[in-house]
Amino acid sequence: MLKAYTDLNQIVTLKGAHQKDGRSLLPADLSIVSNGAIVFDEVKILWVGETDRFPSQYRPLAQSLKGHVLTPELVDSHTHLVFRGDRAQEYADRLNGVSYEQIAQRGGGILYTARMTNEASPEELFRDACERLERIHSYGVGTIEIKSGYGLNFDRELELSLTIDRLKKKYQNRIRIFNTYLAAHDVPASFSDSTAYLRSVVLPLLEKLAPSGIIDAVDIFHEKNYFSTADVHLLFSRSQELGIPRKIHADELNDNGGAGLAADHEALSADHLLKISEAGITALAASSTVATLLPGTAFFLGKPLAPARKLLDAGARVAIASDFNPGSCHCDNLLLVASLAAAQLKLNQSELWASITLNAAAALGMKNQGALIPGMAPRFSLFRTDSVSHVTYNWGRNLSVTLP
Ligand code: NIG
Ligand code: FE
Repeated sequence: MLKAYTDLNQIVTLKGAHQKDGRSLLPADLSIVSNGAIVFDEVKILWVGETDRFPSQYRPLAQSLKGHVLTPELVDSHTHLVFRGDRAQEYADRLNGVSYEQIAQRGGGILYTARMTNEASPEELFRDACERLERIHSYGVGTIEIKSGYGLNFDRELELSLTIDRLKKKYQNRIRIFNTYLAAHDVPASFSDSTAYLRSVVLPLLEKLAPSGIIDAVDIFHEKNYFSTADVHLLFSRSQELGIPRKIHADELNDNGGAGLAADHEALSADHLLKISEAGITALAASSTVATLLPGTAFFLGKPLAPARKLLDAGARVAIASDFNPGSCHCDNLLLVASLAAAQLKLNQSELWASITLNAAAALGMKNQGALIPGMAPRFSLFRTDSVSHVTYNWGRNLSVTLP
């Protein structure tokens, strides 16, 4: 069915950003059409331009959206939203001087959330996740990546991946969900080391899930006291053979050479990068791997932000995501995180918008969305305001509205 919107105060097409592969962006690469109109069907955009030049054959379809701004759909490309319980006590402990790493060493952190999650029924987990998804969607986010990773044993990790698949099916008409397999999130105390856990749980479950086609990517927490470089090679080599894309939690707490590993394995994205080295920056810039920054996590852990400007100036493709999870970033509001971070990371407006649309979609291997140009998927976010600047200028306020 054809649809058309007219009289939009602005359509932020990101056409320039798309032509440049989301790299080395200048403010003009937002490619704004003022007083814009757009025509689309279920699968693609057919026409974009000024309302004054709106083709007359589409006139009967036109819905006026005066007073609104249309952007490519917001994409949150890194969340851990299937979990039970909270870590408010750990948060208080962190404010009182205990570090994230120390909390993990005493059996808290991810292992604590795994214990809580394992006590919950699949139905409870599904219900909580639906509530979180609805809230995130109300901010204008229409595509969202969800990681498993709080089960940490064969049966519960299987169940978490199936829960994400169930969410994907339930919301398929409204929200595009990307299912990431992160059983390699932490190592349960019952295993002698990370490789033993990887070989007895993570890899066998990957073999079971791969033929079902429900896994969109694998991920691993590559970090001291979590998973080693050898573990990453093991997991990534097998997923490459199985044709499953790769993502990695890289160089978050230490420089572990994770960015270079991601580039070598042609990962979709390398995420966090607070401690990325110069060599890592060069490797990502020369690759198709998206550098995904999670500034909400740095804010929440009180750590220095990732070197965004260096990555951007080197020519890397940069995305921003929320990292919504109960421990290191208990914030589900992508626009709030990105609005705050843009000033701190010194992003121009094109870099900011590309990071949460076009480049975030690329971090999920979705090449058909993120720019409002003919041929691309009709995935938009709509804001009730006069200009795109207002959307982030009003940081913390939700100006997103439902599409008619
Ligand atoms: O991306 N770094 C590893 N995983 C999450 C933290 C999850 C947690 O603390 O529960 C992250 O920050
Ligand atoms: Fe994460």
